[in-house]
Amino acid sequence: MPTARVIVLPGDGIGPEVAHEARRVLERLVPEVELEERLLGGAAIRATGEPLPQETLDACLGATAVLKAPVGDPEFDAKDVRPEQGMLALRAALDVYANLRPAIAGDVDVLIVRELVGGLYYGRRGTLADGTVFDTCEYHPSQVERVARRAFELAQARSGRLVSVDKANVLDTSRLWRRVVTELAAAYPDVELHHALVDSFAIELALAPESLDVVLTENMFGDILSDLASGVAGGLGLAASASLGDRGPGIFEPVHGSAPDIAGTGTANPAAMLRSLALALEHALGRRDLADVLRDAVDGALVTSPTPDQGGTATTTEFGDAVVASLEHRLTTEEMTWATTPS
Ligand code: NAD
Ligand code: IPM
Ligand code: MN
Repeated sequence: MPTARVIVLPGDGIGPEVAHEARRVLERLVPEVELEERLLGGAAIRATGEPLPQETLDACLGATAVLKAPVGDPEFDAKDVRPEQGMLALRAALDVYANLRPAIAGDVDVLIVRELVGGLYYGRRGTLADGTVFDTCEYHPSQVERVARRAFELAQARSGRLVSVDKANVLDTSRLWRRVVTELAAAYPDVELHHALVDSFAIELALAPESLDVVLTENMFGDILSDLASGVAGGLGLAASASLGDRGPGIFEPVHGSAPDIAGTGTANPAAMLRSLALALEHALGRRDLADVLRDAVDGALVTSPTPDQGGTATTTEFGDAVVASLEHRLTTEEMTWATTPS
């Protein structure tokens, strides 16, 4: 594989703090990687007036992977140009329609597959003369089919169980969703498909998460359910995601936001960002071996050096130090050829 090129987007709030830890871990694990930082979100608006500058987009389009920290800053809450618009535009530009959000802890091993570039987030919107404001949920059958295909394939590679979550008792887009997923199921006879309505599914996820495997859902429901799933599996500080298209770079980012309430205190948990790096190693850089080693190191640091959100007192940097120390230990004891061993 030619030298990988990774664009790091440090973002806003705790973003630069957790991105820094991911960056130094990546530099240690894959020293030959080309790493560059670009502006996205509030930081980009302040510097250029735009949440996704053309230069950032061009760099991402030419990358092997995009390692993205959260964006969002209360400074822009009342403004028309907002940090979040930059990430939505980036997701659309890279067409990363399949957002994989694993939630793993103890007996729980749920994989949420969230449609990421359609639905309410990208439908028509506007304001009518009488002051009514509207956002439209729109799905084309092909948008449903391609993400459903991913979910079936992932379920095949796991336990073979798939739940598709919708609101088909109310929404036309959900009835389309259910029809397309049901039709596709014929091509995956080894996958056991169930449909669930999002409201009752939420309580199932909260109270019996160990009974679930792969969960497929649309954009807005997936946003809400993935935060809930992260809470079930230990908190937002732990939850990573991979956003993948059919070709081109994926985006690897935590599920959590910029956490303005703790930004600048040096106490953010970098585990979600580091686990997102592990997903990048696995899905974009072809280094499943390094991804597993990194995941082990993060699990170990959660025990030895937990940050305040996990009931501990470690700082962001101390957590990163523990991860790097664990990686160094593996490096010297296993004589792995880190930079050159393919997975
Ligand atoms: P949030 O996820 O930023 O924070 C929710 C709570 O979880 C806060 O109490 C925060 O301190 C805590 N938390 C989150 N991540 C943590 C971590 N790594 N370590 C320790 N504690 C952590 O959600 P919010 O407050 O609703 O949103 C804040 C901003 O983030 C908003 O502007 C929102 O739009 C943005 N946001 C961005 C992304 C993204 O870029 N992917 C995702 C979600 C929210
Ligand atoms: C997420 C975030 C984003 C989303 C926001 C910040 C646009 O909440 O990645 O989960 O809703 O997709
Ligand atoms: Mn979210």
